[in-house]
Amino acid sequence: MKVVAFNGSPRVNGNTSQSIKMVLAELEKEGIETEIVQLGGRKVFGCLACGKCSEMMNNRCVRKDDEMNTFIQKIEEADGIIIGSPTYFSNVSTEVKALIDRCGYVSKSNGGALLRGKVGTSVVSVRRAGSTFTYSAINFFFGIAEMVICSSSYWNMTLSRDPGDVQNDNEGIQTFQTLGKNMAKLLKQVR
Ligand SMILES: Cc1cc2nc3c(=O)[nH]c(=O)nc-3n(C[C@H](O)[C@H](O)[C@H](O)COP(=O)(O)O)c2cc1C
Repeated sequence: MKVVAFNGSPRVNGNTSQSIKMVLAELEKEGIETEIVQLGGRKVFGCLACGKCSEMMNNRCVRKDDEMNTFIQKIEEADGIIIGSPTYFSNVSTEVKALIDRCGYVSKSNGGALLRGKVGTSVVSVRRAGSTFTYSAINFFFGIAEMVICSSSYWNMTLSRDPGDVQNDNEGIQTFQTLGKNMAKLLKQVR
């Protein structure tokens, strides 16, 4: 079994990335293979609404920008998907939105098997406010794709500003560790 995790922050080792790694560590303890993909900072663009994905019918996007189809392929091959995002003006980062729109539309246009039945969860970083919208944006994506959404003991977020601040957020750390344990259990039940 495999989980692919997208770091939607341009900070390669920022709070989102460090939080994702806390979840992945728990998954790995349960023998689940993991991969972290750097999405933030990549040149990825939004959906063109061209409808070509429903003509091509190959679970891919016609737009050839920075590896979006590689990201979609990684999702196709995974049993579980983690989307991590910093909170940017009370929402996901631009790169995360591009992934959601394009992967979501490709999936819908190809019958939905790309995402159906997979376990999904969000990981959110925030300095102070707006993170519940970020959390919702990611979970709304999972929730329209027949995915199984994994939860924790608190909403999956950390209060942190500068890279590494998450390491001082004890409740955040506990939330992500519990999330990893829950995701491992859920994956074993669902898949
Ligand atoms: C463009 C931008 C917008 C931001 N918007 C918010 C916001 O709406 N609310 C908030 O509390 N923090 C906001 N922040 C702070 C980040 O969410 C916070 O620093 C987070 O820990 C960054 O995660 P990272 O280290 O993974 O990049 C913003 C930061 C940037 C760069």
